Amino acid sequence: MKESIETLRPLLVDGIPEFDIPSIEPLIIPEVIIDQGNGPVSVKSIYRDINVHGPSEFVIKNVRFDFDKDKVKVKIWFPWLQVNTNYSMDGRILMMPIKGSGLSYGNYTDIDATVSMKAQRLQKGNETFYNIKDFFVDFNIGKASLFFDNLFNGEPQLGEAMNLFLNDNWKSVSKEIKPVLEDTIAKIFKKFSNKIFHKYPIRVLFPE
Ligand SMILES: *[C@@H]1O[C@H](CO)[C@@H](O)[C@H](O)[C@H]1NC(C)=O
Ligand SMILES: *[C@@H]1O[C@H](CO)[C@@H](O)[C@H](O)[C@H]1NC(C)=O
Ligand SMILES: *[C@@H]1O[C@H](CO)[C@@H](O)[C@H](O)[C@H]1NC(C)=O
Repeated sequence: MKESIETLRPLLVDGIPEFDIPSIEPLIIPEVIIDQGNGPVSVKSIYRDINVHGPSEFVIKNVRFDFDKDKVKVKIWFPWLQVNTNYSMDGRILMMPIKGSGLSYGNYTDIDATVSMKAQRLQKGNETFYNIKDFFVDFNIGKASLFFDNLFNGEPQLGEAMNLFLNDNWKSVSKEIKPVLEDTIAKIFKKFSNKIFHKYPIRVLFPE
């Protein structure tokens, strides 16, 4: 299984445009909307044109594959990820009002992720394919550093104060938005992996 993923790495880096499988280096996500209603972090935010650098340097730490139940659990480590995006947000973070739109930059290091997938088998002609039914992501970030440009309509002092505040409190903020973020990431990667699983039959992805 580890070897299968290693075989896929160059494919993932280049992407396969004719099958709508994008490159993961950089990984470009057109849009993510996070509408977190209440709690310490209640913010409506829209991210567009998200550029993620670094995903291709993933390290597979552990794979547990239950072939009978078509379940797999993969532990992945990313040494670093750099995320540049356009953002627009409005709401409150740990009691502080936040509002703005512009560019946002973030550096994340030492990221542990656990991906759990449950698949069903699909027969197409004489080939058997996987279809991922459930996809769960759990992640932990070792260190983060963020910058939001043009907060509060470019008000420099408020913007600077908020950026300092966010960097000082990123752990609590990340804890609050983690469930929504994990869900969002899972949806993106479920679609992404199904493109691969629907294209390559099981016997090709997992040769005996
Ligand atoms: C992102 O922001 C840049 C600079 O303001 C702009 O040129 C670009 O069109 C924006 N992209 C999207 C998808 O909004
Ligand atoms: C499946 O069928 C196609 C023709 O319909 C054939 O070209 C291909 O070799 C077959 N594959 C296997 C694994 O039997
Ligand atoms: C992220 O890292 C790059 C390269 O080390 C650096 O130039 C940039 O300022 C950092 N950005 C943030 C928001 O920390």
